[in-house]
Amino acid sequence: MALLVKQGRLINPATGEDRVCDILIEGEVIKEIAPTIDAPDAVVLDAGGLVVTPGLIDMHVHLRQPGQSAKETIRSGTMAAAVGGFTRVATMPNTKPVIDSTIIVEGLKYKIAKEGLVKVDVIGSLSKGLEGKELAAMGGMAAAGAVAFSDDGRYVQSCDFMRKAMEYASMFDKIVIDHCEDETLIAGGQMHEGTVSNELGLKGRPAVAEDIAVARDILLAEATGAAVHIAHISTKNAVAMVRRAKAKGLKVTAEVTPQHLILTDEGLRTYNTSFKVNPPLRSEDHRRAVEEGLLDGTIDAVVTDHAPHAEEEKDCEFSLAPSGFVGLETSLGLMLTYFYHTGKLDLISLIRTMTVHPAALLRVDAGNAAVGKAADLTLIDLDREWVVDATAFYSQGKSSPFDGMKLRGRAAATIVDGMVVMKDGEVLA
Ligand code: DOR
Repeated sequence: MALLVKQGRLINPATGEDRVCDILIEGEVIKEIAPTIDAPDAVVLDAGGLVVTPGLIDMHVHLRQPGQSAKETIRSGTMAAAVGGFTRVATMPNTKPVIDSTIIVEGLKYKIAKEGLVKVDVIGSLSKGLEGKELAAMGGMAAAGAVAFSDDGRYVQSCDFMRKAMEYASMFDKIVIDHCEDETLIAGGQMHEGTVSNELGLKGRPAVAEDIAVARDILLAEATGAAVHIAHISTKNAVAMVRRAKAKGLKVTAEVTPQHLILTDEGLRTYNTSFKVNPPLRSEDHRRAVEEGLLDGTIDAVVTDHAPHAEEEKDCEFSLAPSGFVGLETSLGLMLTYFYHTGKLDLISLIRTMTVHPAALLRVDAGNAAVGKAADLTLIDLDREWVVDATAFYSQGKSSPFDGMKLRGRAAATIVDGMVVMKDGEVLA
């Protein structure tokens, strides 16, 4: 059946387009884009007053399968993605068991095909069991469809191992995504090390732990020629080093989360476990530097690091709570509220960090709303005002530091392969 998306404002960073038009979808593919299209048999989706973008992509989420379905499942996580306007997400391998072999990638892909409401790419681990010792079966995983490799959640501590992992990943033209925090410097740390951690009496995770890790990775990227991607960047030195590495022509890229762009360690003063995350929310000087990195293009992608945990796990003493919180259902609203509506970032640049850039980094054919491409689209109501209600999340994870926050801008509909999977906040399929 044909679907006609009528009179939306198409913003397509891949082509630079920004114009009001009709988009005709036939089956799973975009058939025609024109100022007006006459298609009497098509179902019409009125996009008047809405922005239409290529389907948003989040290249860093934790869907927790296999093994941790009490935290999240492919189904619940992709419902949350659809509500947030994402048509495609990439899931991290710190699962139980770890996604470190061909058979696990194949099994997960089977589950995704059956249960995924949006597209899910699989990121394989760099090391077996995330132990940082023996290389995982990257070749087999790449052949089975893994799009990138990472030991996310853990820093690859051994320089020798990381060098080999980079060399191996580049044989398959895949990026290595590194969670950069030197483990010896963060041991026992609960939050960013600084004035607030001192006042709260909590052990800190210093910024220099990230700086050292990023410096090492950039040097190894230079030595090996491999492509390294810095996960959830959060310190001023890390941003400065990535900026310099790019200027030098190295294959170094970076991503940032809304939480590291918007929040600081001040939020932890009430010992609210919803603010506990790794790398930690840092002080204002770091937040500002990270923001500058996004605005000047040093940072390539905005990601959520959607990290659901069961409610009872987070509902405990701060030092015992696991790190991480959900983000798929708040990311777009936060970025529109804090970056677009404040005039800090124009819409096309913002959308680029959530479409073309992550698609290129994952080496997937996505992020371009053009004729002949898969009909993955996000319809956005830029001015819709709403209040974050974590209890209403489709995600099984209900912990969010943004709970109760008033936001402006939200996904109005999500279309995956020509199917409307979310409309007005409701999951349809
Ligand atoms: O806080 C975090 N939680 N940071 C990570 O990198 C991993 C994540 C998780 O898997 O829960």
